[in-house]
Amino acid sequence: MSKTQSLGLGTAAIGRPKYINIRQQNNAEQFSLAKFRERGLALLESAYEKGIRYFDTAPGYGMAEQLLINWLKEKQDPTIEVATKWGYTYVANFDKYATVHEVKEHSSNKLNEQWKQSQKLLPFLTTYQIHSATLETGVLENQEVLLRLAELKNEHNLKIGLSTTGANQLEILKKALAVEVDGVQLFEVFQITYNVFDQTAVSAIRRITSQNKRVVIKEALANGRVFPNPKYSNYSEAYLQLSKLAEKYNVGIDAIALRFCLDSVPVYKLLSGASLELHLEGNLKTNAFQLEEKEVSLLRNLQVEPEKYWKERKLLGWN
Ligand SMILES: NC(=O)c1ccc[n+]([C@@H]2O[C@H](COP(=O)([O-])OP(=O)(O)OC[C@H]3O[C@@H](n4cnc5c(N)ncnc54)[C@H](OP(=O)(O)O)[C@@H]3O)[C@@H](O)[C@H]2O)c1
Repeated sequence: MSKTQSLGLGTAAIGRPKYINIRQQNNAEQFSLAKFRERGLALLESAYEKGIRYFDTAPGYGMAEQLLINWLKEKQDPTIEVATKWGYTYVANFDKYATVHEVKEHSSNKLNEQWKQSQKLLPFLTTYQIHSATLETGVLENQEVLLRLAELKNEHNLKIGLSTTGANQLEILKKALAVEVDGVQLFEVFQITYNVFDQTAVSAIRRITSQNKRVVIKEALANGRVFPNPKYSNYSEAYLQLSKLAEKYNVGIDAIALRFCLDSVPVYKLLSGASLELHLEGNLKTNAFQLEEKEVSLLRNLQVEPEKYWKERKLLGWN
């Protein structure tokens, strides 16, 4: 098995020029759609060359899903696995002054509308997820949606999944695990936020994996908050610990934070959200070493209250 197979590439940041993060250098270069597309394709190719075979996308990620559709036609490699989602529509039209970037709608109309496009990812598409399932949209109780998902699962041999975001991830996971269609659990893939600062899902991740279902980790770098930043003095002790380990293993902080996820919970895939080649290379260094048990324990202590974590996350801008 290739050493890089535990990492997948999340395509949110290559599909739209602005994304929720703490990016500090604002790109002064004039935005060109053609160049952006070219860079996105180059990153897909580079990830593939470096051994990545799992790609996560969504119609809400601007041009990302279409980029993947085009790229897959050229690649034709059956070892590639793609996961997409439905439920968010990208509305910013690549305008850097846009104030609204995406609109959420968890209706069966939206599901059917987005499926028309997403099915072009077949036969590489293995996983179809509800994008950011919440209690508020009632999606986990919407019988029309649940039945349609079960139908797609059977027709196309898909795994049905969902992604969760927010301080109430556990509640959503519990509810999702209880959803059955014709006496069979519907959800088999759970895309969860987990990182050194938010470790609330640890027991849920173990439980899900023990039921032979897949856990995919997202936001493993806490949207960039794991990197030393004077804005987050609350993490100064964490920055010290992460930097010491980075120095010891001769890698960046990103590789340490990603490695923590792999060494502390059982996961199917861990998503890298890199949009730059340099960052992707840094992220992949996580495959070069393993943390000692005592180091994992040390990093376990870096977790913060989920409410605080998600309050901070809500304040992050689109950069
Ligand atoms: N389902 C959902 O609701 C949902 C929500 C969020 C994410 N996701 C999925 O998860 C994937 C990954 O999550 P994410 O992008 O939000 O979070 P992340 O991996 O926690 O953070 C990505 C951020 O870290 C930066 N970064 C990465 N490596 C770096 C390095 N070596 N040095 C400095 N900065 C570095 C990236 O910058 P650059 O962009 O400059 O490389 C980006 O701003 C997404 O692409 C998407 O597929 C899903």
